[in-house]
This record gives sequence, structure tokens and C-alpha cells, in this order.
Amino acid sequence: MNYAIETVGLTHYYSKGTPQQVAAISDVNLRINKGELVGIIGHTGSGKSTLISHFNGLLKPDEGKVLIDGVDIHKDKETLRNTRFKVGLCFQYPEYQLFEETVYKDIAFGPKNMKLSDDEIKERVLKAASFVGVKKEHLNQSPFDLSGGEKRRVAIAGVMSMEPEILIFDEPAAGLDPRGRKDLIELIKDYRKQTGSTVVVVSHSMEDIACMADRVIVINNSTVAMQGTVDEVYSRADELRSMGLNVPEITEIFLGLRKKGFDVPANVYTVEQGAEILKKLASGRCPE
Ligand SMILES: Nc1ncnc2c1ncn2[C@@H]1O[C@H](COP(=O)(O)OP(=O)(O)OP(=O)(O)O)[C@@H](O)[C@H]1O
Ligand SMILES: [Mg+2]
Repeated sequence: MNYAIETVGLTHYYSKGTPQQVAAISDVNLRINKGELVGIIGHTGSGKSTLISHFNGLLKPDEGKVLIDGVDIHKDKETLRNTRFKVGLCFQYPEYQLFEETVYKDIAFGPKNMKLSDDEIKERVLKAASFVGVKKEHLNQSPFDLSGGEKRRVAIAGVMSMEPEILIFDEPAAGLDPRGRKDLIELIKDYRKQTGSTVVVVSHSMEDIACMADRVIVINNSTVAMQGTVDEVYSRADELRSMGLNVPEITEIFLGLRKKGFDVPANVYTVEQGAEILKKLASGRCPE
């Protein structure tokens, strides 16, 4: 079976051929399975956004290639065009790209480009809007009259309405309050569950990634430094620290408790998990 995404020796330079030339990603070899939810983490400037911009052909490799479902996306013009519909890319702060007069038109933009019928476009817009929780009465409003959180949902619905086989998010929760972050993570998890799509999420928050990812890819110095399950990657806390990445605070607390002799697990990555364990511990120690 083909991989959803595979990169072979993928390399990208900015300002190629000038003294400022920089390899933003270099010899990246990775494979993402169909239906997987993969988290990509890495320090600022490590190359995450450059990498994912290659997944839907927005950037062209200087060396190496990108295969989607086993096919080189730069094989010919038509393959590249189809890739743009197959792989949905949701940029950081996607709400800045809203531009239509109404929310409906913004969500309909992708399906319209796909040359779907008006009926099908309508069906997709209503489905995507309802999925992300955009109210029907907002569909005829200007997107600029909505709150920041609502705008972000509209922008995400605009990518979902293309029903891509692969959906990629660059820092989807950036700038949201903790409640908004949590809701968005749940939304992404539900989307994957309901559609069975392959989902890739870039995030600075190791806690957010721990909440949703099946597998984690760590990018450091423009290339893949580690990959594995959340447990496999997060247990290498010292190496992560050397790459400028910190395991979640709650993980540090539990590692500290273990050092002090408490019998608690080392693989605690979210506050919810931590609270559950502490509750159990407390109820065991202090019977009513
Ligand atoms: N348009 C550009 N022109 C020149 N250099 C760039 C450009 N975009 C990114 N770079 C450089 O390429 C490298 C990788 O950048 P990239 O944006 O992919 O990193 P990132 O991991 O997404 O960072 P962040 O976590 O801050 O979003 C950095 O050194 C960056 O300065
Ligand atoms: Mg980035």
C-alpha cells in the first residue's frame, strides 16, 4: 500500500544561488500512513512550515521529491493541480486569508474552484459550517463581522469543504485562549475520526500534540531528528531539550515526583491525565 505522504531526500533552499542561501529543509525522508494523525514539532526556524508547504506542492523541491499516494506531485501539471485539492493546507492564522463578502462565499471558494455543481457546493458548505460550529445565520454575514475564533473556524471550514484526503494544519491553535485551543484540538480529532482522513498538525505545544497525535515527527536543524509514538519521543526529554523543545510542564512535575520516590507514571503529558492520577493517588492515601 502507498503512503499518504512520502518525502525522499527533500531539500529546499531559500535565496538559492545568493550569499544568503539557506537550506530551510535538507534531506528530509519521512512517511505518513493513510488515516494517521501526525504531529510535527520543532524549534522556531527548524523548517516545519517549509516542509508542509511541500506537501501540497506550494513549494517545489530543489532536491528530492514528494509522493502523495505513491505519485510524485510534480510529475506533470495535472497531477500538481489535483494535489492542491487532495491535500488541504490550513496556514497559520488562516483567518487573515478570508476575503469574500460573505461567510458562505468564503467556505464555497475551494469547492467552486473544483468546478462542482451549485447543489454540491451548497451541500459541502453547509456540512463544513455545521462541523466547525459556524451558525447558519452567520453564513450571509461578512466574515469580518465575526469574532477572531469564529473567523478561524470559517477559514478551517473553507479547507474542509474541499474534502481533502489529507488535511494539514500549521499551528491551528496559535493565539487562541486555553478554551479555544482545547475546542480546536477536539475539532481536529473529531474530523479525523469522522472522515478517516490523514491529518498533519504542526504545533509548538507539545501538550496539544500529545492530546491528539498517533505519531510525532521532530524537526531539528532542517531535517528529521526523531520520530515515533508520543511515548517514544517524549521519553527522550534530554535530547528534546537540547533541540530547544521542552516536554510539557505537567510531564516535568511527574518526572520530579518520581525522583522524590512517588510511584507515578513518567508518561503524563496533559493536565487532565495528571489530575486523574493525582485524584486516584489522593483517594488511595486518604480513605474516607
Ligand atoms: N521566504 C523566506 N525567505 C528566506 N528565508 C526563509 C523564508 N521563509 C523561511 N525562511 C528561513 O527558513 C528557515 C525555516 O523556516 P520555517 O518558516 O520553515 O521554520 P518553522 O519551523 O516553520 O518556524 P516557526 O516555528 O517560527 O514557524 C528559517 O531559517 C527561516 O528564517
Ligand atoms: Mg512555521
